[in-house]
Amino acid sequence: MKRMTCLIVLEDYQALAREAARAVARKLLEKPDLVLALPTGDTPIGMYRELVRLHREGLVDFSQVTAFNLDEYLGIPPDHPQSFKSYMCQHLWDQVNLKEERLHIPASLPEDPDGECARYEGLIQEAGGIDLAVLGLGRNGHIGFNEPGTPFESLTHVAQLSEETRKREAQAFGGLERVPKKAITMGIRTIMNAREILLLVSGVEKAEALSRALSGPITPEVPASVLQLHPRLTMLADAAAAGSLPNLT
Ligand code: GLP
Repeated sequence: MKRMTCLIVLEDYQALAREAARAVARKLLEKPDLVLALPTGDTPIGMYRELVRLHREGLVDFSQVTAFNLDEYLGIPPDHPQSFKSYMCQHLWDQVNLKEERLHIPASLPEDPDGECARYEGLIQEAGGIDLAVLGLGRNGHIGFNEPGTPFESLTHVAQLSEETRKREAQAFGGLERVPKKAITMGIRTIMNAREILLLVSGVEKAEALSRALSGPITPEVPASVLQLHPRLTMLADAAAAGSLPNLT
């Protein structure tokens, strides 16, 4: 397959959100039964808002889509306000015509977490693999909850969250001690197996991570650096995030 890597720099967050939604909408028009991997975090909120708008305008139909979340916290109930399930219901699932039986997210209170990881990976295989994985980028270069040091060959697994990642969530959870220490995440291999990847990066605080991901050494210390090897990668960055990239300023 011909390798296609594309970096598109957008003026600001709104433009990034619109372009991300259009990229997903175009894929949906091409393949109505798309299998998507979807992220959480602040970055994709605008994309979801725009996708919901396009759906309400009758331009985007999710009725045949299968969606897999990239990750979910372990140890909190699924209806906890900070669970990724609650996030997805709020921003997408309850707003469009996705079919419940084709919505997947790792269980947050599984009896057997390793079994749950294997089940989740199996569901992705059964669905025929992921057509398009939409990703955010952590400040430390993580993708999903694949923190620095995660082996590149990892499949869906139980991940220990880094102190840095937990501290960032402390306020939302009402204190660091309430932030889960573990999560289930698609692995790096699971993500790299997607036929196409769309990476969304916004804000000056992500500039260093983007620069390391895009042009630094490919190393597990910067999980997103592995994306340099993906055959079909599109990166959407706003000007603030792209500011430190060579030849762009
Ligand atoms: C969390 C999620 C990631 C997300 C990252 C960045 O760690 N597990 O999937 O990409 O946060 O979030 P934000 O977009 O809020 O910076």
